[in-house]
Amino acid sequence: MNKNETQNEMPIISQEELESLKQGLPQVPWIDNNFELINNQGVWIPESFLARILLIQRHFLARDSDLIITGIQKTGTTWLKSLLYTIVNRAIYPINQNPLLKNHPQELVYNLESDIYGEAFAYPRPQHLVELPSPRLLSTHLPYTSLPESIRTSNCRLLYICRNPLDTLTSLFHFAMSYLKNTNSKELLRFEDLFDDFCAGRTIHGPFFEHVITYWKMSLEYPEKVLFLKYEDLKDDPKHYLKRVAEFIGMPFTPFEESQSVIDQIIEFCSFGNMKELEVNKSGVINKFFEKKSFFRKGEVGEWRNYFTPPMVEKITKLMEEKLEGTGLSFKLVP
Ligand code: A3P
Repeated sequence: MNKNETQNEMPIISQEELESLKQGLPQVPWIDNNFELINNQGVWIPESFLARILLIQRHFLARDSDLIITGIQKTGTTWLKSLLYTIVNRAIYPINQNPLLKNHPQELVYNLESDIYGEAFAYPRPQHLVELPSPRLLSTHLPYTSLPESIRTSNCRLLYICRNPLDTLTSLFHFAMSYLKNTNSKELLRFEDLFDDFCAGRTIHGPFFEHVITYWKMSLEYPEKVLFLKYEDLKDDPKHYLKRVAEFIGMPFTPFEESQSVIDQIIEFCSFGNMKELEVNKSGVINKFFEKKSFFRKGEVGEWRNYFTPPMVEKITKLMEEKLEGTGLSFKLVP
């Protein structure tokens, strides 16, 4: 435990401070007229997240042993949660006793802004963070530049996952539709509108490319701090990337484990087909509005082809080329 943890009392953000901060911040409706995104520190966030993010930035104290999954929504963070949880706990729970059989991955790897500092306080409240055993498995969708200082300066490790923007957007469209249904929204979300917003950078925790590129650069500069993963790579060669994850977190698979097919068992257990079929992932909601099953939809590479018109493909391909030029980063768009 970090020796300062217990001294770090939960600060309160007053309504006045919040209102004065909000004044002057760009604000746009997104997905429906009741949902506002505001631009704070160059990042588009739901209006209700402003207080939480300030709390995280002021209050959260990372431990050197923390393992934090990061990534923009719908890039495979739930999958990475299942994998990381199973890899870290493999010596404690055999696969047939894995707590993921009874808990949704979101319930075992807490998201800072939704689960811990969110209004619902669905899981441990912030003060319970100090009681979590090490290594704590946490997640955040925050861009690198918005992370609290203690995450950036401690030796905690970040596992970033990204996905090609076309499939990310397709997945986001379905997720947003499911959310709107659960909030009884009367409005019909149009894919074209979500696409236009996305291309203009207006997406949750966007701009998308800035989010990805910043973590990409950090992973190149500090490979022991940031592991950069791609959804499509994990699909293509899960064994290779599971080994990378295990090495990165300092828990490499032993030759004995390899000979016992432990890696293959983890891949199979956390596979889309297996996770989607678990009873625990089929019904119920998370954080009030998100159906557990909506985190397991198709799990494919290239599904965007059913949604993007040729002009949309042209526009986003051009944008991608512009943004990624000179970065050495590229995305696989089809299986
Ligand atoms: P689709 O909507 O394209 O199916 P996130 O977890 O970041 O919200 O991302 C959700 C996306 O990851 C969804 O994509 C979901 O189906 C997919 N996904 C969830 N679990 C998966 C798994 N075990 N393997 C592969 N993809 C998975």
